[in-house]
Amino acid sequence: MATILITGGTGVIGKHLSEKFKEKGYSVAILSRVSRHDTDIRSYAWNIDKSEIEKLAIETADSIIHLAGANIGDKRWSNKRRQLIIDSRIKTGKLIFEKLKENKNKPKAFISASAIGFYGTITTNKIFSETDPPSSDFLGDTCRQWEQSADRFEELGIRTVKIRTGLVLTKQGGVLAKMILPINIGIGSAMGSGRQYMPWIHIDDLCGIYIKAVEDTEMNGAYNAVAPEHKTNKDFTKTLARVLKKPYWFPNIPALLLKLIFGKMSEILLEGSRVSSEKITSAGYRFKFTNLESALLDLLTKNTR
Ligand SMILES: NC(=O)c1ccc[n+]([C@@H]2O[C@H](COP(=O)([O-])OP(=O)(O)OC[C@H]3O[C@@H](n4cnc5c(N)ncnc54)[C@H](OP(=O)(O)O)[C@@H]3O)[C@@H](O)[C@H]2O)c1
Repeated sequence: MATILITGGTGVIGKHLSEKFKEKGYSVAILSRVSRHDTDIRSYAWNIDKSEIEKLAIETADSIIHLAGANIGDKRWSNKRRQLIIDSRIKTGKLIFEKLKENKNKPKAFISASAIGFYGTITTNKIFSETDPPSSDFLGDTCRQWEQSADRFEELGIRTVKIRTGLVLTKQGGVLAKMILPINIGIGSAMGSGRQYMPWIHIDDLCGIYIKAVEDTEMNGAYNAVAPEHKTNKDFTKTLARVLKKPYWFPNIPALLLKLIFGKMSEILLEGSRVSSEKITSAGYRFKFTNLESALLDLLTKNTR
């Protein structure tokens, strides 16, 4: 069976994705900054500053999934952090590109993560689709550069797909864990106006889209990976509180407070527009979770993952 090489395979999405590919009988390898022997998945090391990648990683990959990147929501966006967010996505992609140029084995597909931040951290009534241009704000510009670096793989004759991902809902870690914390201690409430949209996707659907991107040779270019349902922050928080059987509080957390705590990064909490899932459904992907309540019930009340 084909080998899938996943960069950033140790992260929240990468761990789930590795398991899903394994379940389908693929051979999975991950590319990590740290050489690992603590998992049953083959692990190769790379060093971006030294422009090094373990040779076998590249030589044996039938498809590459590029997830690596410094986490966008972990730390305040100082100038240094912003540069790391960009470099850890683009320099890593460039390094793989350079290594592949020298290598006889070319993978069939290069599939890169991207984010709905491509459309900008703004609250509007517009429903953004893949034909919309990138925003000029920090995340928009980061996604634009990230996707451009992925597009270069086409020069090598490699099919290239970019997955513009919404907020990924997982049982452990990620955005949901952060939202659950205040609700669980009884102080859950919406953020800022509460009217900002929160395009979300269940981890199983995101993995399903990545698997489709590997297997469906018709897929090319950018695809939004968000559930078809549009939820505002207020509706999202209320639904989450209901599923957890906890109270939902009013008034909302003031935007000013969030700006003081998180600085410029608070944008990702306070702003958000609707994003269309039409292109991926037209490509034939059928969502398992189209409704937030069922996604949350699956993740938070079942002991299956
Ligand atoms: N989770 C979401 O809601 C979401 C939404 C939209 C887009 N995305 C994108 O999807 C990708 C995967 O997301 P995730 O949630 O799985 O992220 P994550 O849990 O933060 O994992 C990212 C992985 O990238 C690697 N990494 C971290 N800093 C790095 C650096 N400075 N240089 C090179 N590699 C670095 C790490 O792997 P090693 O330590 O093994 O090297 C890490 O495990 C990211 O690019 C993210 O921006 C995620």
